[in-house]
Amino acid sequence: MLQRPSLLNAEVHHVLREAVLEDRSLGAFKVNRRVFTDEAVLEAERRIIFDHCWLYFGHGSEIAQPGSFITRRVGGRPLILNRDRTGKLHAFFNTCSHRGALVCRERNGKRRSFQCPYHGWVYDDRGVLIAVPGKESMAPGLVESGEMNLVEVPKLGEYRGFVFINFDPNAMSLEDYLADAKAVLDLVSEQGETGMEVVGGTQEYAVNANWKLLQENSADGYHAATTHSTYLDYIASRDGMSDNTRRMADPAATRVVKALPDGDDMGQDNDFNRVRDLGNGHAVIASIGAAPWGRPYARWVPGWGEDAKAEISEIARKIVKRLGARRAELVTNGDRNTLIFPNLVINDIMAITIRTFYPVRPNRMEVNAWALGPIGESPTSRDRRLRNFLEFLGPAGFASPDDVEMLEMCQSGYENQIGMEWNDISRGMLKERPTNTDEEQMRVFWRRWKNLMSRANNM
Ligand code: FES
Repeated sequence: MLQRPSLLNAEVHHVLREAVLEDRSLGAFKVNRRVFTDEAVLEAERRIIFDHCWLYFGHGSEIAQPGSFITRRVGGRPLILNRDRTGKLHAFFNTCSHRGALVCRERNGKRRSFQCPYHGWVYDDRGVLIAVPGKESMAPGLVESGEMNLVEVPKLGEYRGFVFINFDPNAMSLEDYLADAKAVLDLVSEQGETGMEVVGGTQEYAVNANWKLLQENSADGYHAATTHSTYLDYIASRDGMSDNTRRMADPAATRVVKALPDGDDMGQDNDFNRVRDLGNGHAVIASIGAAPWGRPYARWVPGWGEDAKAEISEIARKIVKRLGARRAELVTNGDRNTLIFPNLVINDIMAITIRTFYPVRPNRMEVNAWALGPIGESPTSRDRRLRNFLEFLGPAGFASPDDVEMLEMCQSGYENQIGMEWNDISRGMLKERPTNTDEEQMRVFWRRWKNLMSRANNM
């Protein structure tokens, strides 16, 4: 059912074998630009990466009530995620077992059954076929056999409200797959005393660039000073020129290290302003108190007005009481751009965004993004959070349009590949501890990509 036809020829095998070159002794790391432009490479990615890795589907808060559902394309396939009447989660292929129509056309809703709009077959919220118009003309027992039920995606997993699916029935468990990225999801989730929720709907946009470019871009501290200079100018004009803004506006600035007592919860030491390899191709760039923007639960900025100061202090006091001073500092004052292989980004910075991106063609991706916030947040705090979100992370904010333009310019640049076939991703490679403006987090992605794609040579 999940097999895709092979398009791989000897030339593609060669490209995949030679796509990522690394020489640690020289500090050299190169990625061949054909991986951003070649249709056959994308086909191999679909079969090797998207058919076997855990893929983010949605957040549990989007289907909080029994009977609620969402429909989305995940990994190129139309799916339904629902919570049945008993509260159990299901992920179904959104394909009718009769003649293949989409069973559910709505984006979300609440119902105890799904009726295919074509001939009216009805499935209950556990995928069981329960009604067929003109059933007497069907083969005896066919409806009752279970053979015609909705088909469930082979694997479904949830961690701290983040729901993932996997098309590979033999895939490792979600917890093993997430590896040390679980620690980041813990920090994100602990901001809400009673949990976190997706706020509003899905933000959708498309970019004329290869999907992997957004993975690189989403945790690229090096580009902030140039690509996002307008945002930094805006912050400086609104809140005054702080040391943090000055430092981010200068790509040559020395990193800031803030030590936390008793080690930290994401690694082995107290150096928080650096890149962390979280295993299985996941990575995070993290810092504490070093970014120029305000954080709704920790860092007041003048642009929020004096009234906000007291409320933020009170929120922070309660979180310290709940989590302890050290954990509260990590949770509320830590900025983290996290990459979960292959295509999930969770940026917990001035606000929290969940973002996925899927390839449509080698030079086009579709992006979905959601804002995440603590359940039960006060209206004023929620307002600050969402304004922060829209200012920078939203599709019309200061960041996303500038990023989109840069990614599309890269894709255009890749049309010239004669004598300039390689991207250089070696920044900080010879450092003992690469920092947030280095490119180690991208190398973590590319090493995993190479490891997986090398399997194409056996196909
Ligand atoms: Fe769904 Fe016929 S295709 S009922």
